[in-house]
Amino acid sequence: MSRVFHRAGYGLTQGEFVRLAYLLLPFLLVGCGVSTEQAETDMGKETYLRYCFSCHQGGVAGAPSLGDVEAWAPRLDKGRDVLLQSVIDGIPPAMPIRGLCNSCSDEELAASVDYMLNAVRDKAREVGGP
Ligand code: HEC
Repeated sequence: MSRVFHRAGYGLTQGEFVRLAYLLLPFLLVGCGVSTEQAETDMGKETYLRYCFSCHQGGVAGAPSLGDVEAWAPRLDKGRDVLLQSVIDGIPPAMPIRGLCNSCSDEELAASVDYMLNAVRDKAREVGGP
């Protein structure tokens, strides 16, 4: 086994390699400790991709598309809370209650709304809009 490491050209014996791995371990673990903000963004993206994507990516049935500044502008005026309430209650007939995710918590729905709002804000900044 140790010969493998020598042959790999790193000049480490297996024992040295293991010791090096232990030395590096704390650094690797620190890298995994994502902030809550990042975790919420990930949760929002995941929920979006799983449940909202099917309608909102391509603007199915009049759904405002992800990052479509024109489609979102009038909705942004309503504010995040009203938009979230629209998701929780649905907008008949086309926007389903809870975006078809009955198992989603309000937090997950809120995170996916934030994900969509961030996408349109990023886009607006890109095109030099508001
Ligand atoms: C079956 C298709 C469909 C799915 C799935 C879907 N939406 Fe929608 N959504 C729509 C349509 C259509 C509208 C536009 C409704 C209208 O304005 O009459 C809409 C509108 C919205 C709006 C704007 C609400 C407002 O008050 O203007 C938000 C926010 C939204 N969706 C979020 C979500 C989220 C978050 C998910 C996933 C959890 C989701 N949607 C899943 C079709 C869908």
